Amino acid sequence: MVNESIIVTAAEYILQGKVVAFPTETVYGLGANALNPLAVAKIFEIKQRPSFDPLIVHISSLESIEKLIQYPDKRIYQLAEKFWPGPLTIVTYKSSLVPDIVTAGLNTVGLRMPANPIALKLIELAGVPIAAPSANKFGLISPTTAQHVKKQLPNIDYIIDGGKTNIGIESTIIMLNDDGFEILRHGAITTDEIEKFIPYHSTHNTENKILSSGMMKSHYSPNKPLYILGIHTIPYPTEECGLLAFSQSSNHAYKKVIQLSQNNDLKECAANLFAAIHEMEESDVRCIVAEPVVEKGIGIAIMDRLKKAAYRFQNS
Ligand code: TXA
Ligand code: MG
Repeated sequence: MVNESIIVTAAEYILQGKVVAFPTETVYGLGANALNPLAVAKIFEIKQRPSFDPLIVHISSLESIEKLIQYPDKRIYQLAEKFWPGPLTIVTYKSSLVPDIVTAGLNTVGLRMPANPIALKLIELAGVPIAAPSANKFGLISPTTAQHVKKQLPNIDYIIDGGKTNIGIESTIIMLNDDGFEILRHGAITTDEIEKFIPYHSTHNTENKILSSGMMKSHYSPNKPLYILGIHTIPYPTEECGLLAFSQSSNHAYKKVIQLSQNNDLKECAANLFAAIHEMEESDVRCIVAEPVVEKGIGIAIMDRLKKAAYRFQNS
């Protein structure tokens, strides 16, 4: 935990309509007072984020969601009891208190109570919900350290350095519908875990889905080409490439190898993934090659991020 005075200052900044980067358990967020449209507009400007892409609203207590949602859907409370604080974002109908700029004009809002003591304290001290996307330039890799934030966004008002985030991959996003829930973005909390409480039901309603970056084919793009071993053709010689290794296979033919876990632990791989991509970006490798992982548990979210990172390089 950082010195409380740092969080107090950050909370004052939030109330003054400024933008503050802060750690959550998933990735760093770029936060502003969710009830202040001008402050929220700064987030879009700093991130160079298109205005059609809605933001997640972060809260620190369950009571505070009442005024943000249209009606108290009991399933939200059921899920909250099980998964909050934690890496689950629940999309539900919003109240008129939530400014349109936050939700990109949608009638729904994504809500999340982060499991990070700094984030929770910041929201509590500010006394307002905090709208926060990941603290990266739009479309690039999310930050898992304060240094990653500084690299991409050198000019923001304030950054709380809370060290490395422990989950390392953005929250699971679900949308509630009449018959259950559907997944808008995979994360550490899996469909199976949520299905224990609420049925999975896809509506094939594309309006919200298209707007969620979780549904975009290309996203989380590194500034060097990324390929998945065994899936893509790699147009560079191995000795000029960097390898993101998930298992102990360390291939010495590569120029650089980053082992994401010593014992094949997928959670550890997820936690180290973005930092490893940032490190490859800064190194002298020409491209990044990632080993695929088994698409089970958090492996689904890892493969989702890798496929989206690789998407725009597939034909180049
Ligand atoms: O782990 C996380 O979720 C991190 C931390 C900072 O909380 N935040 C994050 O925010 O990843 P961002 O903005 O990078 O990604 C949130 C995604 C966006 O792609 C957005 O489209 C989707 O959530 N989203 C937000 N509100 C939505 C809504 N009402 N309907 C559909 N999608 C929504
Ligand atoms: Mg993001």
